[in-house]
Amino acid sequence: MNNYFSIKDIDSLDTWVNEAIEMKQNPLSNKTLGTDKTIGLLFFNPSLRTRLSTQKAALNLGMNVIVMNFTGEGWSLEYGDGTVMNQGNSEHVKEAAQVVSQYCDVLAIRAFAKLENREDDYSENVLKSFIKYATIPVVNMESAIGHPLQALTDAITITEYKPIHNKPKIVLSWAPHPKALPQAVANSFVEMTKRMEADFVITHPVGFELASHITNEVPIEYNQEKAFKDADFIYVKNWSSYTHYGKTSQEESWKITEEKMKLTNNAKFMHCLPVRRNVVVDDAVIDSDNSIVIEQANNRTYAAQLVLKKILEKTKG
Ligand code: CP
Repeated sequence: MNNYFSIKDIDSLDTWVNEAIEMKQNPLSNKTLGTDKTIGLLFFNPSLRTRLSTQKAALNLGMNVIVMNFTGEGWSLEYGDGTVMNQGNSEHVKEAAQVVSQYCDVLAIRAFAKLENREDDYSENVLKSFIKYATIPVVNMESAIGHPLQALTDAITITEYKPIHNKPKIVLSWAPHPKALPQAVANSFVEMTKRMEADFVITHPVGFELASHITNEVPIEYNQEKAFKDADFIYVKNWSSYTHYGKTSQEESWKITEEKMKLTNNAKFMHCLPVRRNVVVDDAVIDSDNSIVIEQANNRTYAAQLVLKKILEKTKG
């Protein structure tokens, strides 16, 4: 694995998940693997979990960490080939990626969807440009259409909490949100869950279908309460419309409530965070014993650490 760009870069999900769970028992077992290696974390958008857990993961491996926020601090970058740069952008990604590659051994990047133009977002121009021009491995810390570190985390968490002898029923449920949010978390969750032994259902209002090339054969249930029946995991996320690109809805009837959770098989409640309390989910659900959102966030470190360990081992040869 040269880059960790999407779930497709995981060759064996079961092996990776088990390795991460083992690493969690002894997080400092590879504390010299990254000695004298530097990771650069580039943020074009805000973060709490991704930033801190990736730093923590790198530190556990003995790496040095450099962080740069582009918003308000970095030069605004140009990505187009042959552009006459007489407008707002000051630096081309061609130079930026090559320069950063001289300071670091691994690069990790967060660059959300702009939700203005579907083709632009789904071309993954920012991440793909860095991958093209950087001379070091690149890790996706949430791109326009994917959040594979979050999805690996979710696979680890579901494996830890799933009933031992059952194929779990996993429901990905849309929930309301006041702002239009990208589809990245949902996309990667779908791609990852398709590779797990599970009964998997997606539920959302009509018009909020994810890209069909991502969902493929996964069943979609437009009746949220019906979808929740007998579920072992309720994974909640808002996403804006793919069809009417970037449009959102505050459809209150889709909020996650105690009553809906009672329809499940005592399901665990999951959310990648941050979450808007009492808009997306009632306090009574997120504060309940069945909520595993804090444990889920803890696993961000081990997902990131596993990815960095694999990259360091590969680069050592
Ligand atoms: N889940 C997640 O990526 O959290 P942050 O946006 O805080 O990094």
